Amino acid sequence: MNLIFLGPPGAGKGTIAIMIKDRFSIPHISTGDIFRAAIKNETPLGKQVKSILTSGDLVPDEITIKLVEERLACDDIVNGYILDGFPRTIPQAKALGNFTHIDYVINFVINRESIIKRLSGRRIAKDSGKIYHLVNNPPKREGFCDETGEPLIQRDDDKEEAVINRLDVYEKQTAPLIDYYSTMGLLQDIDAAPSPKVVADSLIPLLKL
Ligand code: AP5
Ligand code: MG
Repeated sequence: MNLIFLGPPGAGKGTIAIMIKDRFSIPHISTGDIFRAAIKNETPLGKQVKSILTSGDLVPDEITIKLVEERLACDDIVNGYILDGFPRTIPQAKALGNFTHIDYVINFVINRESIIKRLSGRRIAKDSGKIYHLVNNPPKREGFCDETGEPLIQRDDDKEEAVINRLDVYEKQTAPLIDYYSTMGLLQDIDAAPSPKVVADSLIPLLKL
């Protein structure tokens, strides 16, 4: 099953992808995670995109499209995949349509006030990839990952100025994908406001092939 998770920053795309990926034995492919890993490892890609991610702008389409095309050529997508954070522009969506087919586009619907609360309270563990929230999903020991014990950090782009820019970028460049995929008959809206468990449970019945 080939899925796209579409939605504004902080809607819970990564959180829900991590919760359901094993149920369908499909990998969670987050372009944001790939870029952050490249930055952490100081690869040429990481050096190229670091300041773009910090500001909340989008990485140029050519770079992102090539990266996803290569990732979707890997053997682990035999049962499908969850694409989280890609496509984010109409050119990316058109390119994607040339090298794969999509079964469903899940559109995470949430208001701006909730987004800001979620992003300002988010903390992440870089090595385990786990996502926490100071209030909604705190770790057992404050400030440290339950799985690896590593210190939790705040993403650079979760600081206020970058959040405002990301929301703006989303409205201008990514929200038009809602109409694009709706016209293709692929879009399924999901209410992303309830707890992660409720959101994940409401998603499963939509995914009938
Ligand atoms: P990316 O990493 O994709 O960031 P994003 O889209 O801004 O989304 P987030 O990761 O911020 O939010 P999320 O929806 O995954 O929410 P989460 O589950 O963490 O991209 C980062 C950057 O990379 C971009 O700005 C751009 O520069 C670049 N990039 C990436 N893809 C690109 C592309 N295709 N083209 C060009 N550039 C690209 O949850 C958020 C918080 O809320 C957490 O604290 C979580 O615990 C909490 N939470 C989650 N769900 C719930 C719930 N149901 N109830 C209560 N709390 C919840
Ligand atoms: Mg994410």
